[in-house]
Amino acid sequence: MIKEYFKEQFGCEPTAVAQAPGRLEFIGNHVDYNKGIVMGVAIDNRISVAVSLRDDDEIHMASHGLHCSGKIKMSELVLQERRNKFMNYPLGVFKIMLDAGMKAGRGFNLADASTVPTGAGVSSSAAIELATAYALGKLYNFPLTKIDAVRIGKAAENKFVGMPCGILDQGVSGFGEKDAIVRIDCKTEEFSTLPLPAGTYFWVFNSGVKHALVAGDYAKRNASCMRATEILNKYNPEITCLADATIAAVEACKSKLTPEDFNRALHVVGENNRVIEMEHALKIGDLAAVGELMKASHMSSRFLFENSCPEIDFLVTELSEQTNVYGARLSGGGFGGIAIALTNGDFSTAQADEIGNKFEKKYGRKPPQFFRTTTGEGARLVE
Ligand code: GLA
Repeated sequence: MIKEYFKEQFGCEPTAVAQAPGRLEFIGNHVDYNKGIVMGVAIDNRISVAVSLRDDDEIHMASHGLHCSGKIKMSELVLQERRNKFMNYPLGVFKIMLDAGMKAGRGFNLADASTVPTGAGVSSSAAIELATAYALGKLYNFPLTKIDAVRIGKAAENKFVGMPCGILDQGVSGFGEKDAIVRIDCKTEEFSTLPLPAGTYFWVFNSGVKHALVAGDYAKRNASCMRATEILNKYNPEITCLADATIAAVEACKSKLTPEDFNRALHVVGENNRVIEMEHALKIGDLAAVGELMKASHMSSRFLFENSCPEIDFLVTELSEQTNVYGARLSGGGFGGIAIALTNGDFSTAQADEIGNKFEKKYGRKPPQFFRTTTGEGARLVE
């Protein structure tokens, strides 16, 4: 499909094609840029990117899903606005790769096609970044390892797009595996996987509340965490990031922190502890504990980090009360976006519909779109 679309748009065959999946944050909300441990799964929805070299110094792009096309000169490699906005993730990746030493004498054509829902909290942005990195790496003979591609995607997001995210999204899209949970130590950038408990499934409920992460709230939370880190470090030099801190250390600094920064720090430290407990619960197959940790994570996001919203809280509460559900929580940046539930195989569409109907009645807005995900492979070069 991507190859046909590419040919239709550019009148030639692509030279390289790569794919990368969307991701779900399983647990570790806003822990990544605080250098703790996070877990996520790659979903079986992916973005495909196809590229070819051009004879001139231009970059042409076409997006199948967004019905957009645009072009710029290689010399105009800056953040695009309005109708060319859709080009920013691939352009950011290209720019970071050039900064890293990739040589590009000529421009390129790039087409993408996707089954990853956009703006839904499953990180279509990380997926397009990773797929672009692999495709351009082949095109310009600049081969990448997994960790290279992950770091390039994150740098494109941080330095070009201006989103101060951590490594979770790109890391899970890059290191995802079928039937596996990706575990990332964000301090050491070590990646490993744990088996997804047999017979469990993730359901995703899209609240329809837009989460515009670049503008505002995400960056504010990040800044709050950095302020708290600075104060904690002043009194405890061994604490260089919130993941180094204990709850007791945060409590001891309570009077030095604003009430808001105190709560943000408590969330991150508590959440990091929960991820470690989650690892243990998964290893011993204690699904009840897994579910409780998901619920506790949500409560902490809701009341301490304050990055949930009433619609997501409603979905999480409803899901948590259902039979066949182990646990539910907000997943991703927050301020809208998605709720996820870990279920057994008997959780049904009828149950999901029932929640959707209640949601519609309560909020007078469209019922959340929901789907059951299967885990998928991480980003890779296809040809
Ligand atoms: C977004 C960011 C990630 C991470 C999550 C919250 O998805 O891109 O880096 O911070 O929010 O855990």
